Amino acid sequence: MQTTAGATWTYFQSLNASRRSVRDFTGESIPDNDMQEILEAAMLAPSSANSQPYELHWVKDPAVKSLVAKACNSQRAAMTATYLVVVVASKKITRNAIDGQLDYIQKTDQLDERTRAYHLKNIKTMRSFLNIGGLPVWSPLLWIIRQLMPVFTLFPLSPAGMRQWMARNAIYAAQNMMLAVAAKGYDSCPMEGFKAPAIAKILGLSYGSVIPVVIAVGKRANDAKIDPQWRKPVNEAIIVH
Ligand SMILES: Cc1cc2nc3c(=O)[nH]c(=O)nc-3n(C[C@H](O)[C@H](O)[C@H](O)COP(=O)(O)O)c2cc1C
Repeated sequence: MQTTAGATWTYFQSLNASRRSVRDFTGESIPDNDMQEILEAAMLAPSSANSQPYELHWVKDPAVKSLVAKACNSQRAAMTATYLVVVVASKKITRNAIDGQLDYIQKTDQLDERTRAYHLKNIKTMRSFLNIGGLPVWSPLLWIIRQLMPVFTLFPLSPAGMRQWMARNAIYAAQNMMLAVAAKGYDSCPMEGFKAPAIAKILGLSYGSVIPVVIAVGKRANDAKIDPQWRKPVNEAIIVH
C-alpha cells in the first residue's frame, strides 16, 4: 500500500510530466472559475520577503487577446490559445504589495509579537531597498564589480538589477500557474518571444513595468505537435558537493 507521501509523489510526478509546452490549442472556452482558481494557485508562489512584485494580467477579451497574440510575434501558441496571461512586475506593484502586507501585519491577531517584529523589520528593509536599490548610481559601481566577479551580476542593485530581481520573483508564480493549468487538465506555453513595448501599450502598463513572460493557456489540439521531452544528462545538472 502506498503511503500518503508516496501517493503525493506519484501524483506530483504525473502532474509534472503532463506539463508540456503546447503550441496548438483548440481555442475552446475555459470556465472563468477554472481560470480564477489557476491564477489564485499561481499567487501561492514564494517571493523574496513575501514582496509579490508581480501582477497576472488575464487577457480574456477576444479583441485584446488578438492584439496581444500578434505582439507575441503571432506565435502559434499565442494565436490558438484561449487566453493569454501576461506576467508583469514593477516597483509600483512591489510597493503596493508591501503596503498591503504592512496593513495585514498591523491588523491581524494571528501573529505573536516576535513574528510581527520580524515582519516589520523585513518590510522596513524592503522599503529601503526599493528606495535606493534601483538608483542609477549603482550602475557604474556594479559594472566594475561585475567585471571582477561576474557572480555579482544578479545582485539586485541598479535599475537593471532591480528589474531582474522583480522578474526573478515573478517567474515562480508563472511556474506555479503552469502546474495549476496542468492540474486542471489544460495546457500552457511560456513565451519570451514577444514585443514588450507593444504589450505594455495594449495593456496600459505603467512606466517601469517589465514583462518576464507571457503564458498561453488552452485545451491541447488533438494533432498538437509535442516532441519527446529531452533533458540533459542528470549528472550535468545535479552537482553534489
Ligand atoms: C523563459 C522561457 C521562454 C520560452 N519562450 C518560448 C517561446 O517564445 N515560444 C515557444 O514556443 N516556447 C517557448 N518556451 C518553451 C520552451 O521551448 C520549452 O519549455 C522547452 O522546449 C522544453 O519543453 P517542455 O516545456 O515541453 O518541457 C519558453 C520557455 C521558457 C522557460
